[in-house]
Amino acid sequence: MKPKVLVTREVFDETLEYLGAHCQFESNQEDVPLEPGELARRLADKDGVMCCLPDRVDATLLAGSPHLKVVANIAVGYNNVDLAACTARGIMVTNTPGVLDDSTADLAWTLMLGAARRLTELERRVRNGEWTGWCLKQWLGVDVHHATLGIFGMGRIGQAIAKRAGGFDMKVIYHNRNRVAPDIERRLNAAFVSKEELLRRADFVVLQMPYSPETHHMIGAAELKQMKPSAILINSTRGGVVDDAALIAALKGGVIRAAGLDVFENEPRLNPKFLELDNVVLSPHVGSSTEATRRAMAMTAAKNLVAALTGATPPNLLNPDARRR
Ligand code: GLV
Repeated sequence: MKPKVLVTREVFDETLEYLGAHCQFESNQEDVPLEPGELARRLADKDGVMCCLPDRVDATLLAGSPHLKVVANIAVGYNNVDLAACTARGIMVTNTPGVLDDSTADLAWTLMLGAARRLTELERRVRNGEWTGWCLKQWLGVDVHHATLGIFGMGRIGQAIAKRAGGFDMKVIYHNRNRVAPDIERRLNAAFVSKEELLRRADFVVLQMPYSPETHHMIGAAELKQMKPSAILINSTRGGVVDDAALIAALKGGVIRAAGLDVFENEPRLNPKFLELDNVVLSPHVGSSTEATRRAMAMTAAKNLVAALTGATPPNLLNPDARRR
């Protein structure tokens, strides 16, 4: 008998075709988010699940899913999955690294350029009929070219962001848990600095480190105060690494110039005070959301899932200890 699989959200036809060749699947193609109770009910008899960031895979859910062998998350981040609880039960967890690096880096740059040149604010003004003619000092932005880019988190996506800075003649500084290899620093023309130095020197501070209890509110009132008043903050990683209330106060009070945000605390119910601010560019957690990249992410997750259920090692296994149990 083919293994039983739940796909918690709508995926692409080719993803289902691939899964169908290897598994019996139940797919939520209506794309209505599954409430925790409904998710638990549907998962009770399944061997595998393909899930997304809004699905919480925690110890309670796992306790009611005795057959589960693999959780294939359709994302590179996996803070929605209790990895330790999965490992303890011998359940493999996989993610989708690599295929989304360039698209996510492009979105970080979209936010940088948009915030620097006030694009969403100015588009609103054009639509509202406020544009009555050209003037020299009209709606001035700041330059991205030749500015200093500071990146927190120099993994694959951070590196893709840094690579793009070469075309803008930017100075690149970064901070990371571990310094990256010298050849990568050379190729990216990037210098490792302390957190404090990055905050003090960068014109653009880009957050690209993973979310964890250690990075929760890593940027709060104190860090915002260390930044230049002319600086722009970009969060293209996860809500929660920034204290959103502190950021709103800083944007209102001129502590920093502007922000570009793709992620928020308590998504999708972001703090409504963001909506009152002109100096913030907002996007709805779409870092990886291009057609090609989302197709690649879904297929990567499907391949991880099928590998796990057919006795192979999934290419993107996050907890090898689970296989040994
Ligand atoms: C998206 O946020 C991801 O982690 O892939």
